[in-house]
Amino acid sequence: MTYGNHVQLKVYQQLEDHIIPVTYEDLEQKAKAHLAKEPYYYVAASAGAEVTARNNNRAFEKWEIVPRMLCDTSKRDLSVELFGKRYQYPIMCAPVGVQSIIHPEGELASSRGASEMGVSYITSTASTYSLEKIAQESNGDKWFQLYWSSDREIAASMVKRAEAAGYSAIVITLDTPMMAWREKDIEHKYLPFLQGKGIGNYLEDPVFLSRLERSPKEDMTSAIMLWAKIFGNPALTWKDLEYIRSQTDLPILLKGILHPEDAKLALEHGVDGIIVSNHGGRQVDGAITSIDALPEICEVVQDQIPILLDSGIRRGADIIKALALGAKAVLVGRPYMYGLALAGEEGVKQVLRNLLADFDLTMALSGKSKVSEIHKDLLRRAQV
Ligand SMILES: Cc1cc2nc3c(=O)[nH]c(=O)nc-3n(C[C@H](O)[C@H](O)[C@H](O)COP(=O)(O)O)c2cc1C
Repeated sequence: MTYGNHVQLKVYQQLEDHIIPVTYEDLEQKAKAHLAKEPYYYVAASAGAEVTARNNNRAFEKWEIVPRMLCDTSKRDLSVELFGKRYQYPIMCAPVGVQSIIHPEGELASSRGASEMGVSYITSTASTYSLEKIAQESNGDKWFQLYWSSDREIAASMVKRAEAAGYSAIVITLDTPMMAWREKDIEHKYLPFLQGKGIGNYLEDPVFLSRLERSPKEDMTSAIMLWAKIFGNPALTWKDLEYIRSQTDLPILLKGILHPEDAKLALEHGVDGIIVSNHGGRQVDGAITSIDALPEICEVVQDQIPILLDSGIRRGADIIKALALGAKAVLVGRPYMYGLALAGEEGVKQVLRNLLADFDLTMALSGKSKVSEIHKDLLRRAQV
């Protein structure tokens, strides 16, 4: 399938009514001007001094693309295969929770926008709307991201609901058994979950509801308090993976892997995929960047299972570099959040369309006409 020229054409046709800035930097600034400070910083800010967040994108500059010439890139194929399925693009919407703080339609609009663009959407456990409602908005492929509750029957119930609602993979996020020290949110005394936002999956979960004496309608405070108690599970170990494995036949990916030894353990425990991620710098400040962590992890995994990557993907060249270093696909987080904040579904679509067109052009101009042709020989270390 060739999407490239088609996507570019659409970008140019729509330049006149472009309602969001094209550059990531301007997009972020416009979202900042548009939103109240609490929700803006909830999205934009990260853990601690935000060193990892700042480095996430800069680390891509350590690599340079060395383009090839005269390769006939007139027809291009941006598709990739994952778990026996063809995906139109090697780009997905990262799981992002509590999107209603920046737009009333939240995850519903993002799910629609992604589906319209042929981009897969990963629904977060911490969505404001339930996974079933989000699934209804999309005709496309979607995955479900699990925050593994300390009440494991709730975790299992969510996985089963996701399978029933048509999700095709489960992403277990390992780096957030508790939320990190996020200075801006603490300064603003802002945790949207305590206002009942971002807990839609719990409020419609039969097991969660069975743990309450009164329904959330009658007593929302108790529901929120229960959520706070069971949200994360810092006691989890590798052995616990067996339990979730026994609940579903869907492929299971682990998100938040940064250490090669953990990649080894993931393989030993039979998971189906890995997402190299530092959660956009929102968990361990000072953590290694994803793109720096990727080569060693690929070395360990040796193509036995697919590796995906997120944290710091902003432009087409970032995607080319991640794929060249061994990722099969990338996830993008904040960019589509700013599109959502500024223009709902249309904003999400424009952000994704720009990213796809940039990726397609950069791939073609680097002399590659298929994602499968992008390898490490296209890169060299920057000489700075
Ligand atoms: C506001 C916000 C909320 C997020 N919520 C979740 C979540 O619920 N589950 C999850 O696994 N990751 C979550 N993430 C992390 C993203 O999935 C992804 O790892 C990160 O945004 C990638 O970095 P980027 O924003 O630099 O693209 C969140 C990120 C942001 C910015």
